[in-house]
Amino acid sequence: MMQPTRIGIVGLGTVGAGTVNVLRRNGDEIARRAGREVHVCSAAVRDPGKLRLCEIAGIELVTDPLEVANDSRVDIVLELMGGEEPARSVVLTAIANGKHVVTANKALIAVHGNEIFHAAQEYGVTVAFEAAVAGGISIIKAIREGLAGNRIESMAGIINGTSNYILSGMRDEGCGFSEKLADAQAMGYAEADPTFDIEGVDAAHKLTILGAIAFGIPLQFDNVYTEGISALALDDIMYAEELGFRIKHLGIAKRTHVGIELRVHPCLLPRNHLLSHVEGVMNAIYVKGDAVGPTLHYGAGAGAEPTASAVVADVVDVVRTLTTDPGNRVPHLAFQPNAISDLPILPAAEIESAYYLRMSAVNRPGVLADVTRILGDLNISIEAILQKGSGAQESVLPVILLTQTTVEHRIDEALRQLAELPTIENEISRIRVEALD
Ligand code: NAP
Ligand code: HSE
Repeated sequence: MMQPTRIGIVGLGTVGAGTVNVLRRNGDEIARRAGREVHVCSAAVRDPGKLRLCEIAGIELVTDPLEVANDSRVDIVLELMGGEEPARSVVLTAIANGKHVVTANKALIAVHGNEIFHAAQEYGVTVAFEAAVAGGISIIKAIREGLAGNRIESMAGIINGTSNYILSGMRDEGCGFSEKLADAQAMGYAEADPTFDIEGVDAAHKLTILGAIAFGIPLQFDNVYTEGISALALDDIMYAEELGFRIKHLGIAKRTHVGIELRVHPCLLPRNHLLSHVEGVMNAIYVKGDAVGPTLHYGAGAGAEPTASAVVADVVDVVRTLTTDPGNRVPHLAFQPNAISDLPILPAAEIESAYYLRMSAVNRPGVLADVTRILGDLNISIEAILQKGSGAQESVLPVILLTQTTVEHRIDEALRQLAELPTIENEISRIRVEALD
């Protein structure tokens, strides 16, 4: 057999330790698949004295991540530390040293990917990032290679395990938001800064990557419309169920006749849709191609070994291509670098969707008529209306409305006018409804 491939890892936390465990446990099988053995020779951590969740015998521990990127013994650098810096410098240094890189870092790829892939192209190395999107699901490979014959029309996915875990727990166990977030952190699902999970930023990083490889556009994180789950009320989760829907946090990428929609936000989905049954830390991505039709890709979206599964698959891919001409490898962003398109990303005001609105209305004749008049004047049709509460003795009642599909700027204007009615109290909840049909 050929010389072993030598790996340097930056970060031995949840994903790094999971990766070492999988490489050790399945070493023989991995060597049979890759054509040579894979040895981890060094790893960078912040605190070398910390107890590790993997066997570190034979791995030299250092504290400077650049030491790994500059280590002449290392063929492939695994960047598993997270964040933008120093991760960006580590990756660019490794590339400049002619090393291949495997990363699980979606923030890095979404924000600095254009620069990183340009450098990789220049130095003829691969930067693989399967683990950056949807944990253990091979969604990058599926879109970039398996569906390469298709014109991708749309994608919708549950792509943040932590948010899905929190929403499932709130609905099924009646748990509070903070309790489920703390559980997700203890299980190693959440980002180092968990606001990235609950404010939709992590999902927006992943959608940036999916949008680029599906539509052949540059990575443009700043143009993704981003809303998280932190403002969702348990009432909305329960009313949605009563109406035959389920609230999920989705990333949606859609090709329209005028451009591309890229958005992450909570959504009401019909309860019988397959995505409505994706619970806990599981992720799923629904991809529609013009030739294949709808496809669904499902699996664990976070956690040590599911993510390690994707990292190790990338290592095997890189080892297999070590001797191929760089110009003939699979392009990083699926399309050849000189064939990237400048399709515009549409502003949120141009999104087309149906809407769920919940408001607290004074219990008095004529109030609903005012609400429906405002919607009617803006050409927004009502699909269903539900007034909760048990009787005339209550002074304020929740009113829930489902609209038909309309353009988002009309709903923005309706919300502005409704908020001015003296009979509508508190803020109005607005959640988009997606049929995905
Ligand atoms: P983690 O548990 O916090 O581990 C981070 C590791 O990086 C730790 O070992 C830490 O060292 C090391 N590190 C951080 N800053 C460093 C520095 N400046 N110098 C040297 N070492 C440093 O994070 P994780 O959950 O494994 O996530 C790692 C990456 O994978 C992130 O990009 C994340 O978004 C991505 N990811 C995570 C998951 C998941 O389920 N957790 C899934 C998919 C992708 P110490 O241990 O000494 O502190
Ligand atoms: N924090 C991320 C999540 C990790 O919960 O989905 C996997 O990318």
